[in-house]
Amino acid sequence: MARELPIGVLISGSGTNLQAIIDAIEAKRLDAVIRVVISNREDAFGLVRAKKHNLPTEVLDHKKFPSREAYDQALVDILRRRQVELVILAGFMRLLSPVLVGAYSNRIMNIHPALLPSFPGLHVQKKAVEHGVRFSGCTVHFVNEGCDEGPIIIQAVVPVFPDDTEESLAARILQEEHRIYPRAVQLYSEGRLRVAGRVVQVEGLAKDDSQVLTNPPLKG
Ligand code: GAR
Repeated sequence: MARELPIGVLISGSGTNLQAIIDAIEAKRLDAVIRVVISNREDAFGLVRAKKHNLPTEVLDHKKFPSREAYDQALVDILRRRQVELVILAGFMRLLSPVLVGAYSNRIMNIHPALLPSFPGLHVQKKAVEHGVRFSGCTVHFVNEGCDEGPIIIQAVVPVFPDDTEESLAARILQEEHRIYPRAVQLYSEGRLRVAGRVVQVEGLAKDDSQVLTNPPLKG
């Protein structure tokens, strides 16, 4: 049997990416075990999802801590106590301090709803629609001390249409998030990711150069 990678998932909200990871584990597409789900908000729906699958949960309210560093140290303490090897940020809406990033160097992943390095930060689906880009998508990356700027692991591209709203684009991107995040974690679990500077090498990568996308299409 493949080794099960011990992961901790950090959330702030709905937790659909957490759900995609749970589903991938249950479908045996992902060799991992969720040791803990931590939310900074007690009303995060992701906690309900976790409990439904009998996963351990913790609420760590950032408002009860004097500083970002003190909060992150409390996170590190929980993650270490649960013997977590890889930390998964799944809609965790907080900037991380060096306390957490240093403790889990190249062992924290984040998913971002844009094609980084375009559109880092918040409200990025709205910014993509307003900018008039023809493609957007999502990015799974390792977390470093910058905001949304760590080494990129996998990206998925979606078209942006003239009648898109922030909501319709976000929904199209979210579907792809649910496909690429479990895949990124599985690549890590298989030991196939090597970080060299800001580039992630994926061992045994299949190259497919048939997918050139044009939007609007060249014909029609
Ligand atoms: C996702 O779209 C994720 O990419 C985004 O928050 C949403 C969480 O949804 N994350 C960020 O914007 C991080 N900067 P979920 O709670 O349903 O997984």
